[in-house]
Amino acid sequence: AATAERILVTGGAGFIGSGFVHYTARTRPDVQVIVLDKLTYAGSRAVLEGTGARLVVGDVADAYTVDSLIGELDPDTDAVVHFAAESHNDNSLDDPSPFVHTNLVGTFTLLEAVRRRGVRLHHVSTDEVYGDLPLDGSARFTEHTAYNPSSPYSASKAGSDMLVRAWVRSFGITATLSNCSNNYGPRQHIEKFIPRQITNILTGRRPKLYGAGRNVRDWIHVDDHNAAVWRILEAGENGRTYLIGADGERSNLQVLQSILRLMGRAPDEFDHVADRPGHDLRYAIDAGPLRSELGWEPHYVDMDAGLADTVDWYRDNRGWWDGAKDVVEDRYDTLGWG
Ligand code: NAD
Ligand code: DAU
Repeated sequence: AATAERILVTGGAGFIGSGFVHYTARTRPDVQVIVLDKLTYAGSRAVLEGTGARLVVGDVADAYTVDSLIGELDPDTDAVVHFAAESHNDNSLDDPSPFVHTNLVGTFTLLEAVRRRGVRLHHVSTDEVYGDLPLDGSARFTEHTAYNPSSPYSASKAGSDMLVRAWVRSFGITATLSNCSNNYGPRQHIEKFIPRQITNILTGRRPKLYGAGRNVRDWIHVDDHNAAVWRILEAGENGRTYLIGADGERSNLQVLQSILRLMGRAPDEFDHVADRPGHDLRYAIDAGPLRSELGWEPHYVDMDAGLADTVDWYRDNRGWWDGAKDVVEDRYDTLGWG
């Protein structure tokens, strides 16, 4: 596939989408980036500073806005990268409605627009569509694993993937999909596990571990995820699903203990709190095809080094998250877990 010259990035004012915009500005300065983002609680204009991207504030489920932006794209050279989503499992257990709207209706709206215009789409999704794996064992998700989502969030993402696959097969749109494991790095919302614990410590609160902390996530640095998305844009096979992961399996307790160590705290300076309902046990990705067929390799292989940079980022950018901290913690207080 030809390298795209203009990219429409949905959700580009959120964590991974803004990482994609920064990564693109650094590595492909000639590519023009347009961001479509609703600026929900999870998005901010500030994260795009210095990238040169044009921000259009709007809803990916609004056909008029989406059609007019996709109408500006050239089907021969340009592409859409679709990050926009409601992304937090805990919120989806509290109120699933925005998850159905953005993740399902939003993806449907985008699919109809790219179908009309003949523009290529890359759909960004999650390993959570596969459900979970037993805690003890070595099985990993592959592109052939059956879908078995657990939460309203993961079910809505699974549904969005199915829509994309059906539009490829039935309508012949040009699209690729990727399902990535847990990301960490700068600009992640402080409702999520790693930044929540870092900012708990920075504000004098104790970190909060769900249950015993044995659940395993397969961590990848956000820049490695975005490098993989670019490889797929440049060399991915139409209609194909690529799993993205960097062999970063760690239990939540292990991750928390790294954070405590990096921030100079004792290993037991945290609280065990009530567990998330339906909490997935373990995720693990086999990214073999991405490595062997597309030649992608992660750059961040030492998670503690990546975590140290992430801790520094939250320390240095307190103004970016400070205003949201009490709101996030008050919300957790009302959930009944966390
Ligand atoms: P995020 O919550 O940080 O950002 C989501 C962005 O989408 C925000 O800027 C928000 O304003 C925007 N948005 C929400 N609803 C919208 C709407 N209706 N119209 C337009 N914009 C809207 O999420 P994230 O962690 O950056 O995740 C980005 C994508 O990557 C999601 O599709 C998610 O499912 C997927 N993903 C995330 C992870 C992870 O570990 N965070 C892992 C794999 C895949
Ligand atoms: O696997 C990819 C998914 O990773 C993405 O699709 C989601 O968008 C993203 O939010 C993430 O989902 P998780 O539910 O795994 O992430 P979260 O950061 O919410 O939690 C990570 C783990 O840490 C999980 O096992 C729950 C636990 N946890 C979370 C919080 C917020 C805690 O122990 N304490 C906490 O305070």
